[in-house]
Amino acid sequence: MDLSGGVAESLKNKCILITGSTGFLGKIFVEKILRVQPDVKRIYLVIRAPDSSGAARRFHTEVRDKELFCVLRKIHGKGFEAFMEDKVLAVAGNIMENNLGIKDMNLLDTMVANVNIVVNAAATTNFIERYDVALGTNVLGPKYSMKFAKKCSNLELFMHVSTAYVAGSKEGMLLETKFEMGETLNDGNSNASYLDIDAELNLMKDTMQYLHSNSESKSEIKSMMQSLGMERAKRYGWPNTYVFTKAMGEMVLGDMRGDMPLVIIRPTIITSVYKDPLPGWMEGIRTIDSAIVSYSMGTLECFLVDVDIAMDIIPGDMVSNAMITSIAAHSNNPSQTIYHLSSSVRNPVNYSVLLDSCFRFFNAYPRHTKDGTIIKVKKIYKLDTMAKFRTYMRLKYKIPLEGLGIVNMIFCQFFADKYKELSKKYKYVMQLAELYEPFTFFKGVFDDMNVEKLRLGLNANNNISEAEMLGFDCKHMDWSRYMLDVHIPGLLKYVCKN
Ligand SMILES: NC(=O)c1ccc[n+]([C@@H]2O[C@H](COP(=O)([O-])OP(=O)(O)OC[C@H]3O[C@@H](n4cnc5c(N)ncnc54)[C@H](OP(=O)(O)O)[C@@H]3O)[C@@H](O)[C@H]2O)c1
Repeated sequence: MDLSGGVAESLKNKCILITGSTGFLGKIFVEKILRVQPDVKRIYLVIRAPDSSGAARRFHTEVRDKELFCVLRKIHGKGFEAFMEDKVLAVAGNIMENNLGIKDMNLLDTMVANVNIVVNAAATTNFIERYDVALGTNVLGPKYSMKFAKKCSNLELFMHVSTAYVAGSKEGMLLETKFEMGETLNDGNSNASYLDIDAELNLMKDTMQYLHSNSESKSEIKSMMQSLGMERAKRYGWPNTYVFTKAMGEMVLGDMRGDMPLVIIRPTIITSVYKDPLPGWMEGIRTIDSAIVSYSMGTLECFLVDVDIAMDIIPGDMVSNAMITSIAAHSNNPSQTIYHLSSSVRNPVNYSVLLDSCFRFFNAYPRHTKDGTIIKVKKIYKLDTMAKFRTYMRLKYKIPLEGLGIVNMIFCQFFADKYKELSKKYKYVMQLAELYEPFTFFKGVFDDMNVEKLRLGLNANNNISEAEMLGFDCKHMDWSRYMLDVHIPGLLKYVCKN
């Protein structure tokens, strides 16, 4: 892989279109490009908004003014805002629509004439998203982004951010290989061994039409469409709507690209920034973080996990750095390349590190309730199979809940509110456990040979400061120290705000 021309250099005078910039990864990516190559020509950010001023407002409040941009702000000092105005244009749009929903035709023409690189990082990451929304964002979104890219006369690369978990529940060593159109995760003997994406889109449209013609309520439509997504995902071998639609998105891109250079980035679980620009920075409570927060508040007593399997995490700055490096590596190269941004092969960390780190951290720095009482944490009770979890939940919560139901009947619904509230909580916890089961018991590891080649290319380009600034090697990371010194403090500071 030849990166001798320099990664930053390859971005000079380039126009880059990015979707998903108001999201967690998107922000890290935009910030880093602007720092690595201030002479980038223009970055177009497609942001959902009614008009251009709405898009600009969202860019200012949700991207530019975030603490993540503090280093860039310091570099440019008083000129920071002018620099951002000059380099970044927020464009009102929606990836679920043709032309990415861009209504300003003059702007669209300018973009089509100038954009060199398209990066689609927008997605819905909700595991149980409504099927219409998930298909719209994760399948039609890539399709319309690719359609846009194909119109661009100077396009050099299309990059798409997917997820490593498009592999579903596969076990063993999982390679960085592409999906063929229509592929499923079922074996050839199944009666659902071919996936017709157009038929899925039609099924979704017909179901929506049927629900509307029956004047179903909004909440009924939501629940029916969520169920439909999960049902279709499972039918074809994927554990949830999110990863199923992300896999379809990859298939659509592979099918449409012709000879367009295509890079698909498949990260595993993206965690807080490791080093640059702001250790611990993150946004939103996702995957392992909901467990950390619940544990810190004393509400998580048991954890459904096999502590010996790999918790495949990768810090957000490493994902973003690899994305930037791969732009330099693949521009104008008419191939399709998949990158697993993962740690399970390079430097595996298992779930016991998470549990031990949480115990050590919150034992040393306990959180407080609103009235100032210290929240004491205990060693967490581990349940390593779903059957054990169900038994635990039944004995500890379900049976007492059934008892409360009987008492409530005897006392003429006196405890109805309490009973309803606890039943809802119980149902929620069970749903959550079932949803996360494929991840906490995931037995696959993600081969990252392509990433290794990219790493070697970056390190061989003789520009040591660039290789350091864009590093994405987790090989020597001490995961326990990262959890204790970076990730958990970052979660408390930037998400829990305390
Ligand atoms: N986070 C992880 O652990 C993880 C792991 C593996 C892969 N990934 C992948 O990485 C990418 C980024 O994830 P993330 O965690 O940064 O997601 P995120 O924080 O949820 O952000 C999603 C972004 O997509 C945008 N978006 C959604 N629908 C859109 C639409 N119709 N039109 C335009 N923009 C739309 C959102 O815009 P709004 O602000 O308007 O909603 C937001 O900017 C995704 O492709 C995801 O699948 C994430």
